Amino acid sequence: MARLVVQGGKPLQGSIPACGAKNAALPIIAASILARGEVVLERVPDISDVWVMSDILRAIGVKVEFEGKARMLLDSSKILTTTAPDELVRKMNASFDVAGPLLACYGEARVSLPGGCRLGPRPVDLHLEGFRKLGAEILSEGGFAHVRAAGRLQGAHIRFPKVSVGATKNCLMAATMAEGVTMLENCAREPEIGDLADFLVKMGASIEGIGTSRLRIHGVERLHGATHTIVADRIETGTYLIGGALTGGDVTLTECEPEHVAALLDHLREAGQEVTVGDRWVRVRGGRPIRALDVSTAPYPGFPTDLHPQLVSLLCLAEGTSTLQENIFSGRFMYVMELVRLGAKVKAEDRHVVVKGVNKLSGAPVDAPDIRAGGGLVLAALVAEGETVISGVEFVDRGYQDLEQRLSALGAEIERVQGPLPQVA
Ligand code: UD1
Repeated sequence: MARLVVQGGKPLQGSIPACGAKNAALPIIAASILARGEVVLERVPDISDVWVMSDILRAIGVKVEFEGKARMLLDSSKILTTTAPDELVRKMNASFDVAGPLLACYGEARVSLPGGCRLGPRPVDLHLEGFRKLGAEILSEGGFAHVRAAGRLQGAHIRFPKVSVGATKNCLMAATMAEGVTMLENCAREPEIGDLADFLVKMGASIEGIGTSRLRIHGVERLHGATHTIVADRIETGTYLIGGALTGGDVTLTECEPEHVAALLDHLREAGQEVTVGDRWVRVRGGRPIRALDVSTAPYPGFPTDLHPQLVSLLCLAEGTSTLQENIFSGRFMYVMELVRLGAKVKAEDRHVVVKGVNKLSGAPVDAPDIRAGGGLVLAALVAEGETVISGVEFVDRGYQDLEQRLSALGAEIERVQGPLPQVA
């Protein structure tokens, strides 16, 4: 089992380019099922969730090739099956993204139902209700969602009762090839959905209202191949910027979209940190006292739940007491006890985290319970005195490309070690 070993106390200094966004790459790879012709994707993040999505597409008959680390070629002309393999699908919730494109293109999809994950329950009722409104029949059986339509899907008016990134993506992809016009209302507005929509338009889809909560899709009979560069990963960008503030360093992310991290930058300024924004770059200089904050997570453009654990790591060293209200995922608190092991004074109750700032954290063995909690624990380790050993690295690898190489480039002392955990006496 791999572990990350961090010697804390080195400020992060320097500049790195942002990687492509995981949450844009995954649906865009799935959407390539819709294309008749070759799809070329650039700036694809080299992370294990992308490898899993690639394997799912290969298993259903898509030809997938990588050129170098970041360029991906997909050819969906010979789909063999509309059933996504259970053992791969169960590795990540985003696998359900293949349901919309398969249904739209082949009139059928069988994809195993996501269960719960460490963030809490992950239902797909809003996706399925959207498919039903587009004319599909929903037959859930044996742990699978089986959706099918007699002919082409039919344009429909769908108002989501709750803002959902996944349901917005899936219904958008399905509607691109429906007959007639589909109106999607109360859509999630995350930049990754905008990136997916831009890609679909390049493939010949007709979509109005991109970037807003109201999408109007005029269905087309065929979509063609396209070339697309994945948008910058705002969560990865935000993680490194928080690291700059937390370690009293000076970090610049280039090739990113500053407006996509605006909610974080507002909080960093409020916390007393120096933030400079340029054209596609952001610089955060720490070294000043960190002021306590009251933060709530919300759908975009609010503060993202995916930066919640990383921001709490920063608040561990703030002057005074901070609070964070988690409004998206009911279970996103498993990291809290790991921070306590590092000496943090942090408690979670009823989706509410209370952090009493301390003067220092101290190294300890900790376990990353999910992707972003892993990011947060790595940040805490960078500032903790002494050595922190982080297990659960397989979660970190799902969402952070070359984490230890990128942190080392910024001056961190971090290495990956393999082998069994040392026995506790
Ligand atoms: C996506 C992101 C994830 C991010 C989240 C919120 C990907 C691959 N993942 O997850 O990193 O943290 O958005 O920004 O893009 N819900 C329902 N019924 C549904 C669908 C969702 O009740 O059919 C609930 C969920 O349980 C959750 C909330 O709605 O409480 C938001 O979920 P959603 O926005 O769909 O998140 P994901 O697409 O799963």
